[in-house]
Amino acid sequence: MCGIVGCFAQKGCYEKLYSALTRLEYRGYDSAGIATLSEGGAFSVRKKRGGVAAIAGAPLIGCAGIGHTRWATHGVPSDVNAHPHLCGKFALVHNGVVENDAALRAELSAQGERFLSQTDSELIVHLIARAYAGDFFAAVSAACARIEGSYAVAVLCADHPDTIVCARRGCPLVAGAGGGALYVCSDIPALCGSAAYICPAEEGEFVVIRAGEIGFFRADGTPVPGKVFARVRGAARPRAVVAKTRMEAEIAEVPAALAGTLASLQEADLSACRAPFRAARRVLSVGCGTAYHATLAFCGLLASQGVPALCRPASEAADLAAGEGELLVAVSQSGETADTLAAARAARARGAFLLAVTNVEQSSLAALADAALFLRAGPEVAVAATKSYNCQLLCLYFVAARLLASRGAPQVWEQSLAALPALARRAFGSFSAVEQLAAAWQGARGMYFLGRGQDAVTAREGALKVKEIAYIFAEGLPAGELKHGPLALVEKGFPVALVCTARALVRKCAAAAAEVAARGGQVALFSQYAEALAIPAAFHIRLPAAPEPLMPALAAIPLQHLACRLALLRGHDPDRPRNLAKSVTVE
Ligand code: F6R
Repeated sequence: MCGIVGCFAQKGCYEKLYSALTRLEYRGYDSAGIATLSEGGAFSVRKKRGGVAAIAGAPLIGCAGIGHTRWATHGVPSDVNAHPHLCGKFALVHNGVVENDAALRAELSAQGERFLSQTDSELIVHLIARAYAGDFFAAVSAACARIEGSYAVAVLCADHPDTIVCARRGCPLVAGAGGGALYVCSDIPALCGSAAYICPAEEGEFVVIRAGEIGFFRADGTPVPGKVFARVRGAARPRAVVAKTRMEAEIAEVPAALAGTLASLQEADLSACRAPFRAARRVLSVGCGTAYHATLAFCGLLASQGVPALCRPASEAADLAAGEGELLVAVSQSGETADTLAAARAARARGAFLLAVTNVEQSSLAALADAALFLRAGPEVAVAATKSYNCQLLCLYFVAARLLASRGAPQVWEQSLAALPALARRAFGSFSAVEQLAAAWQGARGMYFLGRGQDAVTAREGALKVKEIAYIFAEGLPAGELKHGPLALVEKGFPVALVCTARALVRKCAAAAAEVAARGGQVALFSQYAEALAIPAAFHIRLPAAPEPLMPALAAIPLQHLACRLALLRGHDPDRPRNLAKSVTVE
């Protein structure tokens, strides 16, 4: 939700913090702030409502500093609620949620503490200040022990101008080194280009930067042995096209991202999965939002081949009760989504085999899993997931193919996975027709996305994107459900996107299109088949042809572009949708 960064550098500490914040902005952009500490122990603070650009200005003095990009949970976005928060000799930035906020606030207020902000985070810096008796680390550790909920914090102390103490529980934190600086940060991509080496902090660990050195500790102050810094991978690829927004750039990167995924997919990565692939009683899968849609496609594919497969949004996975003798495939671009991690932890604790599919190698999900497949899609920064979805599908097709092969059911379509990058590029051929469609639908107050079978999954993903960034009410539905209620809303001009990528279902799609047209609704048909594109409709969007099981990875592309165009035409910044953050690290 929020992004935190800490930096110690003899030269350019402020600039390095500011630059990391610009790369962390996708984790929150309703306010930002930086505090630095001079050698003499004086704080300089600049914090404001708005994006990181709001705090641009002359460098703040000091070799140690902390920074924050906020996505408000407790307290409205405002200058006062922006981090860092200060109390006595301390300044703090926090990502997470203090669940015992009310009890702590009442306790501290009764002891005479006065708070400036409405945030739960400010409580932590007060707890630290009250616990301080000269030992900086001990004060942070004591304060953390009082917090129920989740946190990643970075703290400065005026008595120790060369030190930053950081801690994590339930929120990501990674340490980095390079270019004459030491870092701690919420996310690896924000350190790409700055840190050459990184090492993630594990749950409950503390990271201390002191006098040019970096170390990992337990809460009692004992060092954590065996921490190894690895070279940073996954620096941002140069953009292939000139794009005005990150979302447009990331859609343009889909073919390259798919090629990156393909090049890295190795049978060896799944060697630990051989036994569960062969013998798991059930294949279960969880994810959130777009990642959940990828699990729907995955389980649909397995179920169509007779494998017992079930998926759930990770926040609703309790009834799956994944356990011993079962395989849980957890899908998450960031690898840090709290709901997905909670479902994965619960399944693992009950004895399920956990396979993670994620874009971030050092993520909490990858660390938790028995085996992991990495998307290698390159950093995804726009809040709306695009290229990660296509790459999640590719990884899951690979998993499905290997799993089915190990059960004696090899799939011919596996050979066609290699063609997906080139086919994705051909999907860009539909963009001018999509732009005409967006121009026609930009004033809509609501729209449906319909499909049958796996196209119902694509329809849901298309609707999610439109809601998320264009702020138009959109619902993704199985086309057959239309006549069981939703048709009531269809009237003259009502927009309906109909996805039809299964030849066997063309006639059923034609029936749905006719039902819409009979009420004056406006159909846009997305298909690779001439016979489907012959169905009377106001718009026809041609998809490239691939084996049908692989079509969701291609059919999503024009829908991603449609949502992005609708957002831009309606004057919204698709990279910064309201009320959303890229990485949702609270349940
Ligand atoms: C939608 C979107 C979200 C994420 C969801 C899960 O465009 O971006 O729905 O897909 O929050 O995030 P990850 O994949 O990081 O677990």
